[in-house]
Amino acid sequence: MKRNLRLKVLALILAAGATSAAQAYDGDWKRGRIYFRHVCTACHSAEVKKAIPPNERTKAEWAAYLQADKHNKGKDSVTKYFSKQYRDSIKSKNAAAAKFADVPENELLQDVKVFVNKGAKDGDAPAGCS
Ligand code: HEC
Repeated sequence: MKRNLRLKVLALILAAGATSAAQAYDGDWKRGRIYFRHVCTACHSAEVKKAIPPNERTKAEWAAYLQADKHNKGKDSVTKYFSKQYRDSIKSKNAAAAKFADVPENELLQDVKVFVNKGAKDGDAPAGCS
């Protein structure tokens, strides 16, 4: 019983630590820009024949879009394109995916969030495609 309690306390401490570590990560907009341009935009330009630049949407629209996590008219999710699995699948032909192959998914997502927030129509530095 005592041992059980100790384990529970330990689990709580670990969980609290993990949460604060995740919240402590602010995001790196420069890394987000590289990822956005070389992974997201690369595919949009090739497959959609149209880039989807940050400055096409407002900060609030980007936040809502990423929060909803529905991509390509709801056919898949945005987070899919941040996954390690996706990066692994394209890294032989995509330098950014190869470079960031080992970055935790949540960090990359946060990086891109910060980048599109900054590059949004009403952001600090509205960003087009190049
Ligand atoms: C493998 C190709 C591919 C990749 C990689 C990709 N997208 Fe897309 N994306 C699409 C397609 C296809 C559409 C649908 C466009 C259309 O028909 O209007 C789309 C549409 C979008 C749209 C318009 C709204 C919607 O969901 O239809 C946004 C915003 C978007 N993508 C963001 C992203 C972001 C951010 C990333 C990178 C994390 C990303 N995409 C990576 C293929 C891709």
